[in-house]
Amino acid sequence: MAIDIQIRTDSPADVAADVLAVGVLQSGTKPGDLPHILRPLDRIFDGAIAKLVSKEEFSAKRDQTISLSTLGRIRADKLLIFGLGQKRTVGPAEVRSFAAKAARAANAEKAKSLGLLVPPPLEGELRAVAEGLELGAYRFAKYFTGERKPKAELKNAIVAISAKAGAKGKAAISIGQSVAEAVNLARDLSNEPPNVLYPEAFAAAARRVAKDHGLDVEVFDFAEIRRRGMKLIDAVGRGSAHEPRLVHLAWTPKSARRKLVFVGKGITFDSGGLSIKPAAGMGEMKHDMSGAANVVALMAAVATLKPKVEVHAIAACAENMPDGNAYRPGDIWGSLDGKTVEIINTDAEGRLVLADALAFARSLSPDLLVDNATLTGACVVALGNTCSGYYANNDEAAAQFAAALKDSGETMWRMPLLEDLREQIKSDVADVKQTGDRFGGSITAALFLREFVGDTAWVHCDIAGPAAIDRPTAWMQSKGATGHGVLTFLAMVERAAR
Ligand code: BES
Ligand code: MN
Ligand code: ZN
Repeated sequence: MAIDIQIRTDSPADVAADVLAVGVLQSGTKPGDLPHILRPLDRIFDGAIAKLVSKEEFSAKRDQTISLSTLGRIRADKLLIFGLGQKRTVGPAEVRSFAAKAARAANAEKAKSLGLLVPPPLEGELRAVAEGLELGAYRFAKYFTGERKPKAELKNAIVAISAKAGAKGKAAISIGQSVAEAVNLARDLSNEPPNVLYPEAFAAAARRVAKDHGLDVEVFDFAEIRRRGMKLIDAVGRGSAHEPRLVHLAWTPKSARRKLVFVGKGITFDSGGLSIKPAAGMGEMKHDMSGAANVVALMAAVATLKPKVEVHAIAACAENMPDGNAYRPGDIWGSLDGKTVEIINTDAEGRLVLADALAFARSLSPDLLVDNATLTGACVVALGNTCSGYYANNDEAAAQFAAALKDSGETMWRMPLLEDLREQIKSDVADVKQTGDRFGGSITAALFLREFVGDTAWVHCDIAGPAAIDRPTAWMQSKGATGHGVLTFLAMVERAAR
């Protein structure tokens, strides 16, 4: 259930909530000096806050926090003080992180209500506040029963600001909540266990999203995938008892200015196939459909924002399993594009389903094609767990994408499509080889995908690192799936609509 978010002009002491979170900007004062915004509260606590600030050398640096029980001196039971960093470095993304951290702390306190004090220069960032609250409060708890069920749920939030926000403020809150709800949908889909979420179940979930949001939807079943010549999806999906699916969602407003097509890798479980993965960590491969989850979730957000841009989402879903009928290293398969592919390693399945999905996406004649995939361990080695790699065959597309990243605050780094490495995916027996050697693995995967996009302007995001995390960071305040990518893709759409 969505949090009930109210905007009020209450003074901090009057905010009626289980937890009150105060955001403090770093000013010129020395560490340990009491920041201005805390003075009224400090008087109520007879100087106790000033003491804590001094003892902990609090200077409102980002990620610094102070926590204290209020023992009835103000209406909130618990007071949390969050450093936000220097004013000039704080934008919507930092406000979102602050709200997310506060919501996560509220969950940890088993709070039902949370007050949030946003410092005056940032009071306009109400969409970011709402996004942060919903993203930070997110938990994947549906499989807990009895004692393990969460004891309390964050139901109310009071955002305390100095001036009345009016209808515009309310609208910003509502948009923020819808956007975060979409990101949380991506998280839910990705966190779902692979015995429950197989390709057919993913397609059913996508149909529900389409129905709830008034989007066009089409699902290709296995027979249709084969009939259309999507041979690479066939190859990857054939080893599983669960058949593959291709899902296509569309938002097609009248007089659309541009057409964007988003593609996602939807491997609902990646065992590696016959080139089977080691046992340790294999369960993480339930997240191997995060790219597909992202594009479906994006469409939910698009449907609420109603931009004058045509947007399509294509999810290529299959389960990669070893089997008597599975595809093998040494196989040569055709593709929707027509190119033949020599299979080297059945664990490099993502680029194969994407190749057919990209060829299909191209046929929609997009102005820009964007794919995202948990594609390579090599990308995680290169950029770590919090940063995705992106590639573009076109500098203008790359520039647009970089601008969207500025809007979203998500971390992605541009990687090069090095022509020198193209050598690695030349095959002696087919048009293209599926994989290169050990070095530059994320790049050769991208070069392989490029073979299937023709001259369409294209951006490829390798989200293998940040798609799922083992500890909370920024507004990715929950272990497991993050929905990383959705906010940037949405920013792309919003920019295209301007
Ligand atoms: N789904 C994996 C990539 C992955 C690794 C995602 C770690 C998230 C975390 C992908 O299908 C895969 O197995 N890639 C192989 C490619 C290799 C066989 C060329 C890899 O990265 O090892
Ligand atoms: Mn794999
Ligand atoms: Zn995979």
